[in-house]
Amino acid sequence: MNILVVGSGGREHALAWKIKQSPLVKKLYIAPGNGGTAQEGENVPISADDIPELVKFAQDKKIDLVVAGPELPLVLGLKNSLDKAGIPCFGPGAFAAQLEGSKAFAKSLMAEAEVPTADFKAFDDYIMAKEYLATQKPPIVIKADGLAAGKGVIIAETMEEAQKALEDMMVQKIFGAAGERVVIEEALTGEEASFLAFCDGHNIAFLPSSQDHKRIGENDTGPNTGGMGAYSPAPILPEDKFEETADLVIKPVIQHLEEMGHPFKGVLYAGLMITDSGPKVLEYNVRFGDPECQPLLMRLENDLVEVMLACVEGTLNKIPLKINPKHSMCVVLAAKGYPGSYAKGHEISGIEEADNLPGVKVFHAGTSLKNGQVITNGGRVLGVTALGDDLKQAKENAYAAVSKISFQDMYFRRDIGDKGLRYNE
Ligand code: AMP
Ligand code: GLY
Repeated sequence: MNILVVGSGGREHALAWKIKQSPLVKKLYIAPGNGGTAQEGENVPISADDIPELVKFAQDKKIDLVVAGPELPLVLGLKNSLDKAGIPCFGPGAFAAQLEGSKAFAKSLMAEAEVPTADFKAFDDYIMAKEYLATQKPPIVIKADGLAAGKGVIIAETMEEAQKALEDMMVQKIFGAAGERVVIEEALTGEEASFLAFCDGHNIAFLPSSQDHKRIGENDTGPNTGGMGAYSPAPILPEDKFEETADLVIKPVIQHLEEMGHPFKGVLYAGLMITDSGPKVLEYNVRFGDPECQPLLMRLENDLVEVMLACVEGTLNKIPLKINPKHSMCVVLAAKGYPGSYAKGHEISGIEEADNLPGVKVFHAGTSLKNGQVITNGGRVLGVTALGDDLKQAKENAYAAVSKISFQDMYFRRDIGDKGLRYNE
C-alpha cells in the first residue's frame, strides 16, 4: 500500500514511525513532514491545509490511505474531497470535524447526546453575551468558537478578566472569525485526562488513558502550549474505568453522529476533567493528541495500518487492540521563548545517542535537515519518549534520554508525570 500522512509535528513523526513498521506498506509519504519523518518515508512539500494539492498528489501517487494528523485539513474537508476522488481517509469529514472546529457545535452535540460537560451558553451577539456574563459568578470560562491554535480559551478568575476576554474576542476580534461566536461556560475543577478511541463510524476501540501537560512552566504555570509532555496510563483514569468512561463520553457521540448520517471514522479524543461528580468533557479533538500520540503509539502493539483500515472499512470490531502493559512518557524539548517567539536553525546533537537507549524513541516535531544535520525549526522541537515497567521508570528512562540531547536555548519541563507519581505515595 501507498500511504500519505498529512502534518509536520511530533504526532506525525510517531504516526509515520508506527505506520512504517507495517508489512502492508510499500511507500510512505509525509506532507510536509519534518526532519524525523524524512527518516521514515519521503517528505513532500505540500502544506497540511492545501486540500487541492494533497488530493492531487494522492491521485498522482496512487495513495491507498491518507492519514490526517492535525485537525485543520479535516475541518477544511480533506476527507470529503478524498471521498470524491475515491481515496480512503483516516479521519472524519467536515461535518463531524466541527466537533473540534466549532465549540458551539461540540457543546450542542454533547447536549443532544447527553454527554456530561460544563454548563454553557453560546452567543453570536456581543451585547447578549455581555448581559449573560453579568449574571454569572467567576471563575468563568470564555471560549472562542473556532480554531485558535490552542489560545482561544480564557479561564477568567475575575469579572473584569471575563469581560475583557469577551471584548477581545467579539469586538477586537483578536482571533479573527474564530471569535465571532463565543461559548461562555462554567469553570470545572479536578484533574485532566485524555481519552482517545479509534472509531469506524459504529464500533469503537479505546486506547489507554494519558495525561498532557499544557502549560509551559513547571507545576502547571504560565501560558498554554500545544503540550509539553504526556504519559500513559494516567492513574486519574485507571483501566477499570475505561469501559464506563467510553460509555459516557465516546459512544453517545459516535452513535449520535451515525444517526445524523455522518459516521465518525478516525480517532476521537475526549479531553476530560475528572471532577468529584465524575468525568466531564472539556473538549473533543478529531485526531490524535500531540504529544499524547507519542506515548500511546509506543504502547500500541497492533499493526497501526490494519487498525486504520478497519476504521475506514467499518470492521474495527474484528480487531482487538493489543496494548503493552508498560508505562510510557514523552518529554517535549522546546525552543526557549515558545509558545511566544523563538529562534530557529540551531544544530541539535545527541539524538542518535538518546535513540539507542533501550525502550527510547526520539520523535521529531519542529526540526528540519540541513546538509544531513538536524536543526531546530519550530517551537516544540523533539518529543523524547520512553517505556518503563512503571511510571517512575518511564520517567527515569525519558529524562536519561533527554540528558543526551542538546541545542542552544533548549527548554523542557522536569516535572512531566509528577501528578501521576503522586498516586504511588
Ligand atoms: P479546550 O481547548 O476547550 O480543551 O481548553 C483548553 C484548556 O482549558 C483545557 O485543557 C483546560 O485546561 C481548560 N479548560 C477548558 N474548559 C474548561 C472548563 N470549563 N473549566 C476549567 N478548565 C477548562
Ligand atoms: N495535546 C493536546 C492536543 O493535542 O490537543
